Amino acid sequence: MGAQAVLRTRRIELVPLGDEHLEAEVELDSDPEVMRYLTGRASTRAEVVERHRRRLAVAHVVPGLGFWAALVDGAFVGWFILEPPERPDQGPVAGQAELGYRLLRRHWRQGLASEGARELLRHGFADLGLARVFAETMAVNAASRATMAALGMTHVRTSHLDQADPLPGTELGEVEYATTRAQWLSRAGAGPASA
Ligand SMILES: CC(C)(COP(=O)(O)OP(=O)(O)OC[C@H]1O[C@@H](n2cnc3c(N)ncnc32)[C@H](O)[C@@H]1OP(=O)(O)O)[C@@H](O)C(=O)NCCC(=O)NCCS
Repeated sequence: MGAQAVLRTRRIELVPLGDEHLEAEVELDSDPEVMRYLTGRASTRAEVVERHRRRLAVAHVVPGLGFWAALVDGAFVGWFILEPPERPDQGPVAGQAELGYRLLRRHWRQGLASEGARELLRHGFADLGLARVFAETMAVNAASRATMAALGMTHVRTSHLDQADPLPGTELGEVEYATTRAQWLSRAGAGPASA
């Protein structure tokens, strides 16, 4: 398995994130509502440029994993990620990936996050041979938690990470949701999960 695949769902084309998506990432991260449970404020252009560099680097850690730009009718609506675990408490890098998603606010509540993420679960388990996919968010991030639940991921733990500058709601902790390949296969039944 080499470079990241191009993936498609009914509405979304998922293409490996590239420099051509930088301006859209700047727009995405400059919305304080999008960043509410991440940094709690709009990002500056310089911050997004630095983040973009790190996002591209993720594609070089484990073959097949990385960031995908999500396009609907050719226009950027947000991004999805499958990335290797970064912290020791997240478990082994081999066979695991962390799922994430971030969409422009005008595209929320249209089923796009669950549609794109469902395809990434399929890709991770069926094409890349992953054993487990997990996702983390602040306990108070209802939209993200509902998306995880909609994907069939289940709550594993709530933890309290030491943070220098905690956001409102940090006191309720960070939640981890996960699903294993076996669970995904049993949910998908005999056929692939429909997108
Ligand atoms: C999280 C996010 C990607 C969800 O995107 P979305 O396209 O609106 O999600 P979907 O429309 O696919 O909805 C998925 C499920 O979540 C539910 N949901 C979405 N937003 C919700 C909200 N604000 N409150 C409660 N439930 C919500 C939907 O009803 C749906 O559940 P269902 O299948 O049981 O009906 C989007 O809110 C976002 O980009 N937020 C900012 C970035 C962020 O916080 N990312 C996660 C950080 S870890």
